[in-house]
Amino acid sequence: MNRDKINKFFDKLPTHVIILFTMAVWIIPTVGLLITSLRPPQAVGNTGWWTVLSPPPGAAPYSQYCASCHGADGATLPEADLSNPELVGQYPRSLQLLAALRQDINGQPHMGDIPLPSAQEAADIAVYLRQLSEIDASSQFTFNNYIDALVGYRGRSTYTADCAAGTQPPDINCNTSDLLNPRGMGRAFLNSLILTIPATILPILFAAFAGYAFAWLDFKGRFVLFALLVGLQVVPLQMTLVPISRFYAQVGLNGTFLGVWLFHTGFGMPYAIYLMRNFLGTLPRDLFESAYLDGASHWTAFRQLVIPLAMPAIASLGIFQFLWVWNDLLVALVFLGGTTPVMTYQISNMVTSLGSGWQVLTAAAFLSMLLPMIVFFSLQRYFVRGMLAGAVKG
Ligand code: HEC
Repeated sequence: MNRDKINKFFDKLPTHVIILFTMAVWIIPTVGLLITSLRPPQAVGNTGWWTVLSPPPGAAPYSQYCASCHGADGATLPEADLSNPELVGQYPRSLQLLAALRQDINGQPHMGDIPLPSAQEAADIAVYLRQLSEIDASSQFTFNNYIDALVGYRGRSTYTADCAAGTQPPDINCNTSDLLNPRGMGRAFLNSLILTIPATILPILFAAFAGYAFAWLDFKGRFVLFALLVGLQVVPLQMTLVPISRFYAQVGLNGTFLGVWLFHTGFGMPYAIYLMRNFLGTLPRDLFESAYLDGASHWTAFRQLVIPLAMPAIASLGIFQFLWVWNDLLVALVFLGGTTPVMTYQISNMVTSLGSGWQVLTAAAFLSMLLPMIVFFSLQRYFVRGMLAGAVKG
């Protein structure tokens, strides 16, 4: 490495550190959420997600005291096979285990020259033997949380097992139609999609029209109107909840998707128009003038010049609006309520009704994260360009 390269490396070091730090802050909790959502409830209750890869506490004392005769897998002595659940079942705790270890075998001490383990070590070994022999068969990972979250949590982790065995209680219906159970996330996922897609597309479409008009059409009062629209951004959404829901009640829009689409469109547009106008204003004037000279109408210019050129701005607006509507609880709660539950509504219900069942909550939370992550990663290459585009020139 020559000196230039070394200097360059150190110049960029703070940037790299910050980027790594940001990534860690984002990724570690996400991984924790994912792992927790895949663990069975008793494991979630007992240990944190970061322990999944570390060996259980009994593994070390077992290999120290017992493995020399019984083998690492416990099966070396066929007469005393420690991987056999029936044998291990007789030694549920350190008490019984220590008693067996104190007993002589064929007139010899059980453990030969090896000293007896302490009470704590014996307890850990007893727990470890239960895992070794698969008495505590519950594997480390399970998809049950996701199934519970998707079809509506029934408060029991044995839901799938019960359904498979046909022993389910009468209130449980194991059909696949459960996916559309109003208490689950399956139906809510659909509702969220139906709500979010138009509520993302509509404001951006209108904002593109308006941005084009503000940037390239000459009409009277254009600046006043634009300033007014920009000013609208400061109107708090909460202030309008009462008047708008009263108005919706009069025209019958309460509890309908159309009402929520209109609401989100109205509140998304001021910022979207502001960003679109600033972006379109930076496009070269010659481009439009030569297009008009060639006889292009405004509509053609809009379709063939503006839409393709404004893609970065449209994409970054799309991401923001999508995330905002997808994660919004307030508007969905006020205008849709529980009859048409969306994902945020369903998750908020789980928090209040399932005090200790939060392995299902983690699964539901992860489900609701999936789509925004897909949207973000598929649009992110436009994203940086779009961020800069709005900001550099006005
Ligand atoms: C020096 C070798 C040796 C060591 C060390 C040893 N065992 Fe054993 N263990 C044996 C032998 C031999 C038997 C008897 C097999 C038979 O029944 O013939 C046995 C039997 C057992 C049995 C079955 C007893 C019964 O009543 O059938 C258990 C349980 C057991 N061992 C647990 C352990 C545990 C736990 C450790 C470690 C803390 C351990 N052993 C360490 C040699 C050993």
